[in-house]
Amino acid sequence: MSEGTFPRAVPDAAWVTIPDLHRDPFPIYQQMRREAPVHWVPAVNRYMVTSYTACHTIEQDAETFSADETDSLMKRSMGHSMLRKDDPEHKVDRDSYGSTLRPGTIKKHWNAIFEANNEKYLSELQAKGPGADFVWDYAAPYAAENLRLICGFHNATQEDMQRWSQTMIDGTGNYADDAEVWAKSAQSSAEVDAAIDEMLPLLAENPDHSLLSGLASMPIPLEAIRANLKMTIGGGLNEPRDVLATTVWALLNHPEQLASVEEDPRRYAVAFEESVRWVAPIGMYPRETTRDTVLEGVQLPRGARLGVVIGAANRDPDVFEDPEAFNIHRVKKPHLSFGGGAHFCAGTWVARAQVAQVALPSVFKRLPGLRLDPADPAVDAGWVFRGMTKMPVRWN
Ligand code: HEM
Repeated sequence: MSEGTFPRAVPDAAWVTIPDLHRDPFPIYQQMRREAPVHWVPAVNRYMVTSYTACHTIEQDAETFSADETDSLMKRSMGHSMLRKDDPEHKVDRDSYGSTLRPGTIKKHWNAIFEANNEKYLSELQAKGPGADFVWDYAAPYAAENLRLICGFHNATQEDMQRWSQTMIDGTGNYADDAEVWAKSAQSSAEVDAAIDEMLPLLAENPDHSLLSGLASMPIPLEAIRANLKMTIGGGLNEPRDVLATTVWALLNHPEQLASVEEDPRRYAVAFEESVRWVAPIGMYPRETTRDTVLEGVQLPRGARLGVVIGAANRDPDVFEDPEAFNIHRVKKPHLSFGGGAHFCAGTWVARAQVAQVALPSVFKRLPGLRLDPADPAVDAGWVFRGMTKMPVRWN
């Protein structure tokens, strides 16, 4: 805001509805960004922040924009994890994750495991034959099995991971206060607690590279371990699954770009980054103002509940040329899909390794002539989380 100008009042976006956001949020984001960087959206009961600069400002100023949201449904569903703490408390939890998710450990340890899991689940997709669903018959079990081993749940299955993840995420989004949703989320939460209680002493005796193994020897309260693992189950499964399917869908819809990555497999990493920019797997996350403030010229009161819509910021035309297009050849600019500041995604390198390095090149090599099923079209949906909800595929 330039000196001498008054901050504007927040415009109201009563025209925005949740079903429309769920179907296709991008035209809505275009209209909102054109009008103002921040709106009050009654349907969502939040201020939605849609410009790149405003989202970036929030990420860099944790004192004004706290992650510790009042009455957070995530806290009710999963406990008080690092994602809903501010520094210095946040840093203690974040540091407790040690080197498990870091590039060195991925290279030395996890990549071989990702390769083996990819082999298993891609073979299962092949065995199902053309018409199988790329998301549910491959991407989901692959991402779930990787995360199971990263967490150290040797007493659970990848199916447990998928069920725990989805039911606790449903709790996090249970604004309708549906009792059945809470019951399922509480059931999963109790199962995760029991699985952690069983694994911690076993891993203290027989350590491995997993998160729970590292935590077994840390002076971290059990309550924090439980909450952090639940948040990681919720945040480390759907996103790799969704970016894997979205990237393949985008490449199949842009054959000239697919030819370009097949010609030079280093471009799979570029396709991955463009895909997470184009469709951010986590489209929005919350913050709360700790004082009256002015964000990009818009006045916000203390205690304002914000939705940081990185799915919209990533398509801001002030930053990205022709932002609605999937284009692996665009000039590279930093997207916001992994968040920023203190809460920058701890699993960024794990996601890149399992999807861009391991899965994507093998998918196109192992399934020659891979194509979408014209008789049964793929569906993309969602806005808080967005991805392919079904994607039947065929190959030669
Ligand atoms: C493409 C895949 C992924 C995307 C797009 C993604 C996105 C994000 C975003 C946007 C945040 C910050 C949210 C906020 O500030 O409120 C975050 C945090 C986090 N993510 Fe990811 N994530 C991905 C994969 C993973 C994986 C595979 C793991 C674990 C193996 C993981 C673990 C975490 C953790 C632990 C945090 C909390 C960090 C903190 O609070 O300090 N993520 N992620």
